[in-house]
Amino acid sequence: MQQAIAVLDSGVGGLTVVKEVMKQLPHEKVIYFGDTARSPYGPRPASEVRHFTRQIVDYLLQFNPKMIVIACNTATAVAIEDIRARVSIPVVGVISPGARAAIKMTRSGRIGVIGTDGTIRSQAYETALRQISPDIHVYSEACPLLAPFVERGLFSSDRAHSIVEQSLSPLKDKPIDCLILGCTHYPFLMESISQVMGPEVTLISSAEETARDISTILSQRNMQTKSNEIPIHQFFCSGTPIVFRQIAENWLKEYISFIPVVWQVPTII
Ligand code: DGL
Repeated sequence: MQQAIAVLDSGVGGLTVVKEVMKQLPHEKVIYFGDTARSPYGPRPASEVRHFTRQIVDYLLQFNPKMIVIACNTATAVAIEDIRARVSIPVVGVISPGARAAIKMTRSGRIGVIGTDGTIRSQAYETALRQISPDIHVYSEACPLLAPFVERGLFSSDRAHSIVEQSLSPLKDKPIDCLILGCTHYPFLMESISQVMGPEVTLISSAEETARDISTILSQRNMQTKSNEIPIHQFFCSGTPIVFRQIAENWLKEYISFIPVVWQVPTII
């Protein structure tokens, strides 16, 4: 049986990474876990997020995946080293790819970062950016209202737009030329974020670069699937699946419309 790439997030956010994986690696099978019952992770203490991440990884290991992708910045910031120490398969996070993508893009060396309270508090982006380029200027802003809004499927509403406007206002007068969407939920709000920040600011989602990392690791280790079949992906969520399923089907429609997808009953862990 084909070994899958296991992807986790607090909810629907990691689907932004899954979409890129499906685009770049169409024959790879994905098993996804969204912890919708316990979302958002952003306001939670680091120790709790670490504990939840461990639980989900333990759950996903029963499917014998070939790789774990922590498609959540909040969990990557506080749990990736812990998970790497616990499993023998590759573990990919979203912070280093996002930082790398921003460094490639910036001309001015002034980069904005938005994320959850947990991610911004951890300063994981500052660390990752300065590891690549020590002189970089980073302007960080926590936007705790955004992910819960996305989780409710309300990302195209007027209310969502005004919350984006309000959340980004502290960054509007900063001299940045790139803004890292340091939460995997934020690409759902791309249109509003881009309208608010204007054409001078390039938005960086780590999804694309993360999918490239996944592809590189699979080929370096000769772990790519040899199958040319269309994979049967599996999606799990810990809360009620109705909204989760709607968002996922809509977001991934070009990649899963003709692909058999197994939707599982909610699993509370
Ligand atoms: N998608 C998540 C992230 O990238 C977490 C959002 C949340 O649960 O607060 O940080």
